[in-house]
Amino acid sequence: MSTLIEQVHSREWFYAYDLPDGSSTTTYHGIDIQAIHDTRWNMLDACIGHCLGPERGGLTALDLACHQGWFAYNMARSGFSRVLGVDARQSHVDDSSLISQIYEMDQLSFLQGDIHEQTPDQTGKFDVVLMLGLLYHLENPVGALRVCRALCKQLCVIETQIVPGMTGFVDYGSYQYVRPLKGSFGIIDETGDTHGPEASVTGVCLVPSLDALLWLLEKVGFSSAEVLEPPQEAYEQLLHHKRVMVAARV
Ligand SMILES: C[S@@+](CC[C@H](N)C(=O)[O-])C[C@H]1O[C@@H](n2cnc3c(N)ncnc32)[C@H](O)[C@@H]1O
Repeated sequence: MSTLIEQVHSREWFYAYDLPDGSSTTTYHGIDIQAIHDTRWNMLDACIGHCLGPERGGLTALDLACHQGWFAYNMARSGFSRVLGVDARQSHVDDSSLISQIYEMDQLSFLQGDIHEQTPDQTGKFDVVLMLGLLYHLENPVGALRVCRALCKQLCVIETQIVPGMTGFVDYGSYQYVRPLKGSFGIIDETGDTHGPEASVTGVCLVPSLDALLWLLEKVGFSSAEVLEPPQEAYEQLLHHKRVMVAARV
């Protein structure tokens, strides 16, 4: 019977976990990928402190599309009293659960499920909802934002790739009925990549422009949405506005 640590080392990892025996997981994208995780965690951690204050002991969090659980694990480690991670891929849920077992974190649990199927009746509502690295892999991003709002009690943090947006006016059926564009979506084809551990499960991906994302967040019921400023040393995608992290408040 292999130990839990041996089980970790026999698997492939997206995140560099530091394990209790002093070893770390080897990441399959090489060490560079960890920079994007570290940047996002630092931005997220600062945002939670800014929006909700330093005391996290009474707060709960939900990590939608948790992959192998690294953000959920960091949320629990930073003091949240209960953290639930959800991912469409059962293998990610198994890997994440192994990590919570190793660290004996009873407050950290994981569940297999599609974001679109999550409801407050099933999971309850959470003070903080995370949706990192998911929106641009979905064919129903508006539905996913509605789920985020339905499950959120205080703060929702969304991190996503964005596309350049179109602006202007549309003759909407007639030149007498002109409407302004509120944003736009780019379509990305992942239909050949759905086997990938980070990919979409359907392959049809609608990626929002920043205008679209901010407008939609308001329309699904958040009272405000603020783009977080990346630090100077941020991963290049965030630094160059190819991805954004947005804090939306209930
Ligand atoms: C790019 S990874 C992001 C993982 C993690 N949130 C992060 O930011 O590091 C996308 C994740 O979304 C999951 N996923 C894709 N489609 C999903 C869906 N419809 N519902 C739930 N999870 C989904 C994938 O299995 C994968 O773990």
